[in-house]
Amino acid sequence: MCGIVGYLGEKDTKEILLSGLKELEYRGYDSAGIAVLQDGNFNSYKAVGKLVNLEEKTKDFVTDKFAAGIGHTRWATHGKPTELNAHPHVGQSSYVVHNGIIENYATLKKELTSEGVKFLSQTDTEVIVHQFEKNLKKSDSAFEAFTKTVSELEGAYAILLVTKSEDKTIFFAKNGSPMLVGINEENEKYFASSDTPLIGRCSDVNYFEDGDYGFVTKNQLAIFNKKNAKVEPKFTKLSTNKLSAQKDGHRFFMEKEIYEQSTVISDTLLGRLRDSQVLFDEIESSLFDGINEIKLCACGTSYHSALSASYMFERYAKIKTSVEVASEFRYREPVMTQDTLFVVISQSGETADTLETLKMAKRNNLKTLVICNVDNSSMVRLADASILTRAGVEKGVASTKAFATQVTVFWMLSLYVAKLKNSLADAEIARQIKLLRQVPASVKVTDDRHERIKRLSKRYLHGHGFFFIGRDVFFPLALEGALKLKEISYLHAEGYPSGEMKHGPIALADPELFTIALLPQHLLYEKAKSNVEELSARDSTICVISPIVFDKADDFIQTGNHEDYMLEFFEMMVVVQLLSLEISVRLGNDVDMPRNLAKSVTVE
Ligand code: F6R
Repeated sequence: MCGIVGYLGEKDTKEILLSGLKELEYRGYDSAGIAVLQDGNFNSYKAVGKLVNLEEKTKDFVTDKFAAGIGHTRWATHGKPTELNAHPHVGQSSYVVHNGIIENYATLKKELTSEGVKFLSQTDTEVIVHQFEKNLKKSDSAFEAFTKTVSELEGAYAILLVTKSEDKTIFFAKNGSPMLVGINEENEKYFASSDTPLIGRCSDVNYFEDGDYGFVTKNQLAIFNKKNAKVEPKFTKLSTNKLSAQKDGHRFFMEKEIYEQSTVISDTLLGRLRDSQVLFDEIESSLFDGINEIKLCACGTSYHSALSASYMFERYAKIKTSVEVASEFRYREPVMTQDTLFVVISQSGETADTLETLKMAKRNNLKTLVICNVDNSSMVRLADASILTRAGVEKGVASTKAFATQVTVFWMLSLYVAKLKNSLADAEIARQIKLLRQVPASVKVTDDRHERIKRLSKRYLHGHGFFFIGRDVFFPLALEGALKLKEISYLHAEGYPSGEMKHGPIALADPELFTIALLPQHLLYEKAKSNVEELSARDSTICVISPIVFDKADDFIQTGNHEDYMLEFFEMMVVVQLLSLEISVRLGNDVDMPRNLAKSVTVE
């Protein structure tokens, strides 16, 4: 989500940090900062917005001797994108940068505050530097204090810390968030949260394992594992292709983003799940006081995630829910009552139609909530409350990981409301929370799965149309599958409720009509199966996606045996995304920038 860099050596530290951050800017860019320790003195600069602002602020800052420097580009998770919330965070004589989320930050912060520590920011990260300095007072060395601090942190992190008490050292720790260190013959040490900043600067890199921590000095790289045993670095040669490194070696950003879903869903869950309770620090439960209905409003893919939410809100939270296409809603003079919570969903937070409906809701004095991927976007600023999806920057025009994180948030939110309204027993909420924890695994792409879809895609490059069909929450997924295919393959595709095909569209059925059928085993399997059989009897070409072998299909993609239909939902989501991708690739289209489309639609 965020990007971090570090450098220890004699070259121009400022230039190295800023150019490293530039390479990572695609990961997050609501603020950035650096801290450099040279000759025992710190200089630190921060700026809100894109990196050019930081470049401007540091233009007179000179780094021309040995230094230890750290830098960060931020994608806000805790606290608004302000200068105070930007990293590096400062203690009395140390600075820290961090990616990830410290789950127990509230407990640590309370303790530190009661001991007189003053916090400057709203971030979870700031506790790290204060906790370190507290430990430093009772330790024989900075490394001892750092080791103790790391052992006290829960959650996901990649951390770099510099301190005056050992001014020629950078301390690091990694757990759940990526980080690597690079070396070269000049004894320099480079850190980053992904390969790109290191390309051209060093030849050999070590990717840290979860639980690794340690320090670097000019002549040393000391790594300890989670059992506190010293380990040797495992160096590999660094690739030399920057674009490929930005795409993590994938052919397209969309492909990378499909593969990334497991990580960004984990990020979205982080700190929000307890055994039988979902927590959203960013909203007050009073938001739901007096609310008898939820109205969801969005466009495109976000509209599809809203549709899936409507099934979950009614099923789990037992609250009346309706869903609206924003461009329709804004002109149809809708009745808006004040017992309705108005929820807008948007990856960008800037989509003009959706933003306009939010303004309408505000004018009508409705309570408003936005589910959004971009903090400080227009919608986040306008709504009464916001929940961030933590998908990181989505570059592919066809949305994938944003959708995955939106559905994840909606599943959590429906359980949150179910708890408030007592509509599900604690044991059932606890069961579903266990399922939520399995979502990251259910969306992992295996080589076999990808290879199978790649092979199969060659049979779906023509025809007079596609129908993606599903029932219940798989209907919005069918809509989303069809939208993905339309957007990047330019083939005609529709999403349809399986049971509705016989009311008209079945007239189109022939071998050149391709049906992509979503057949989960845990939700209306027999009903949906009959609908597919009706199409099979009319000779439509059928590709079934299901854990249960279906012998009347022309093609079959077997999904895993999950214990709940929502896990089937997530796995099938990946299948339809990959299918669209591979069809588009075979047709020779520009996957990341399909014709006629823009990433953020800020006009009507
Ligand atoms: C589909 C897609 C669009 C967006 C829609 C809403 O892949 O990207 O349909 O989902 O334009 O955008 P946001 O979510 O930014 O409001």
